[in-house]
Formats: sequence, C-alpha cells, structure tokens
Amino acid sequence: MMKQYQLAMPQQVFSGETGMQALESLAARHKKAAVFTDAGIRASGVLERPLAELDKAAVPYVVYDTLPAEPTCDQAQQVIDTFRESGADLIVAVGGGSVMDIAKLASITADGSCTVRDQLKDPRIGKKTVKTIMIPTTAGTGSEATPNSIVAVPEEQLKVGIVNPEMIADAVILDGEMIRRLPRKIAASTGIDALCHAIECYTSAKANPFSDLFAMQALRLIFANLEKACDDADALDAKEKMMQAAFYAGVAITCSGTTAVHALSYPLGGRYHIPHGVANAIMLMPVMQFNKSCCSKKFAEVYDAVGGTGAGTDTEKADWVINQMDAMVKHLDIPTSLKPYGVTETDLPLLVKAGMDVQRLLVNNPRTVTAADAEALYRAIL
Ligand SMILES: NC(=O)c1ccc[n+]([C@@H]2O[C@H](COP(=O)([O-])OP(=O)(O)OC[C@H]3O[C@@H](n4cnc5c(N)ncnc54)[C@H](O)[C@@H]3O)[C@@H](O)[C@H]2O)c1
Ligand SMILES: [Zn+2]
Repeated sequence: MMKQYQLAMPQQVFSGETGMQALESLAARHKKAAVFTDAGIRASGVLERPLAELDKAAVPYVVYDTLPAEPTCDQAQQVIDTFRESGADLIVAVGGGSVMDIAKLASITADGSCTVRDQLKDPRIGKKTVKTIMIPTTAGTGSEATPNSIVAVPEEQLKVGIVNPEMIADAVILDGEMIRRLPRKIAASTGIDALCHAIECYTSAKANPFSDLFAMQALRLIFANLEKACDDADALDAKEKMMQAAFYAGVAITCSGTTAVHALSYPLGGRYHIPHGVANAIMLMPVMQFNKSCCSKKFAEVYDAVGGTGAGTDTEKADWVINQMDAMVKHLDIPTSLKPYGVTETDLPLLVKAGMDVQRLLVNNPRTVTAADAEALYRAIL
C-alpha cells in the first residue's frame, strides 16, 4: 500500500448550461475584480458573457487583455506589477493555460513579498492574498485544477513548473461554450495535452486510487469526444465533455504527476518555442512505447474502460491503446516529429541535458529514464 496520497481541488466547481451565472454571486462580495485574458480570446468574443455577469454583480472591474502566450517568468512579472496597482481583491482568469498560470502567480505575489523569479528558487514562498476564479477557454491544460504554474526561463531555454498548493483556484467555471469557436489547431493540441495528462498520470509511479479515478474518467471522455469536439464546431456536447475531461486530468495531475512525456517536452517548448500541446504530442508515442513493458496492465485497464476491441492479452491491449492515441494525433493533423522545427542531430546533447534536468517529473516515470534512453527517445522524433 502507498504511504500517503491526497486529493486537493478548487473549493467550488460550476458547470452546465447556466454554470456561468455563478460568476455573479461569486464576484458580488468583492470590491474590485481584475479580469486576466489575452488578445486572441478578446477577439473571439468569449469574454462577453463573463463580463456581463460581472456587470450584473455591480462589481467594478479592470480588464488586462494583452497577456502573452506561454509566458516567460519576466513577462508574468510585468503583468503582476501592473495588476498590483489595480487594488483588485479578485482575479477572474478567462483563458487558456497561459492566462490562468499568470493569474495564479499574481494571486500569491500580489502583496509584493516575493517575485516570480524568487519562486523559481523557492516555489513555496508565495501566499495567496487575492481570490481566484478560473474560466478555461481551452480544453486543455487543466491549470484550473492544479497548483502549478509553468513559466519559461529564457537564459536556461527551459520551461519550469512552480508548484504551490496556495495556487489552487478558489472557484472554477467549466463551460463548453467557451471553446465553441476555438480554432481546430488549438483545440487539437490542447486536447492532446489533456490526453497526455490523463495517460501519464494513470501510468505514473505516483498513481493512486484518487488519481486513477480522475485520470480514467478523463481518458473515457477524451477517447470518445476529442476528435468530434475538434472536427465539428457545433458539437457542444463533445466540447462540454472535453472541458470536464481537461479538468479531471488536471485533478489527476494534482494527486499523481505527469511523467517522461512532459519532462522531455519542456526543453522543446523552452528552446524551440514549440507550443506545449504540440511538444507533448510529439513526445507521446516514443515515451509510451518505451514505457509499455512496465505498465501493460494499466494500459489494459484503459483498453477495457474505453471500449477497445480485438485484443486478448495485456500486451495486445496496450498496443491497441497506444495505436489509438497515435491515430488521434494524426487525425488531428498535429506534427509527430521535430522536422518542421529544424531540430537536428547536433541539438541532441543539449536537449538530453535539459530533459534530464526535469527530474521533478522523470522520477514519476514507470520506467527509469537514463541519459542514453533520453537520447534514443529524442532521436526517434528527429
Ligand atoms: N498550470 C498547469 O497545470 C499547466 C498544465 C499544462 C500546461 N500549462 C501551460 O499552459 C500554457 C499553454 O496553455 P494552452 O495550451 O491552454 O494555450 P494558451 O493559453 O497559450 O493559448 C493558445 C492560444 O489560443 C488562443 N485562445 C485560447 N482560447 C481561445 C478561444 N476560446 N477562442 C479563440 N482563441 C483562443 C489564445 O489567444 C492563444 O493565442 C503553456 O505555458 C503550458 O506550459 C500549464
Ligand atoms: Zn501539459
């Protein structure tokens, strides 16, 4: 039996047709709200409904709508410095992982007692002084559920995860309408990110009964709905289910942890600026093949849960699950190699070094990853 495992989640989670209306009462007790978002989201029109709820609550608000995608630690700090002048006592994040991650950092550094760079050295020093409401617009990173915030550190050409339970959101609103007009390319890569969270957490060395529950339900929903949610703009039911799946996969991350897919993809984001979901999609196949022999029973459980067909042994079932994930990535037209990004053989030593530095996640991998293994895994996607 495992020594200890625990479940930590946002205090309140709203979903369903009228879920967005919860924002009115959630905001009502506050003196001023700061709405964090970005230009793409503002242009898509999805900000209108959350702002209408804030109007109904008669809470004054300021909108920060130029947040950067995949922020560096210094870009996040700039947003936080501007936000600190607002006097707001509530942050409403309407966005993907990039927006939510900055909002979470702002909520624990608003009193000015530490900076984002301080937290790279000591992730636990921030204390929450401003409440947060997360309204994801991608499905997604699951950042609305996790205590993690990911920032790029330019001088190290790496992305780093700051993990602090203080960053868990106070409230979350999951609304499929928010992803109705999400461009297919972004829906696809963010959906594969959620798939990676779920399968990595389910096969992680840190997996436990709590994380298994959430990761498995996320897998059921993703296998059944991801392609439809991306292909059909009007498939609102599939989009709602992807919103739930991304959230469940985020809860699974909080109780378990991602593994070598995420560890080895961090340098791809940090060094070559490959979007997070795409980098994970590229790493997924080689890592799953590498891990297969160590967790074929877990893959077989996934096969049974998602309605796999035609396989008998655990190994055959694992092959079916892995092939099915490969087919999803290909159906969604996401690159499966580093070729489009100009990465070559000469980049391997630096990639291996940077990847091996992400021990925080590599220790979760069900099979030990040596530097030679990492090199072979990167070589497989050149
Ligand atoms: N904190 C966590 O637990 C966690 C987990 C995984 C990833 N991340 C981080 O999250 C970031 C990636 O987040 P992401 O994949 O959600 O993408 P993103 O937030 O970077 O957004 C990508 C693009 O999509 C656009 N967009 C978002 N929602 C839209 C909508 N509804 N309609 C139209 N356009 C829309 C944005 O304007 C942006 O240009 C990375 O920095 C990654 O490292 C964090
Ligand atoms: Zn991820």
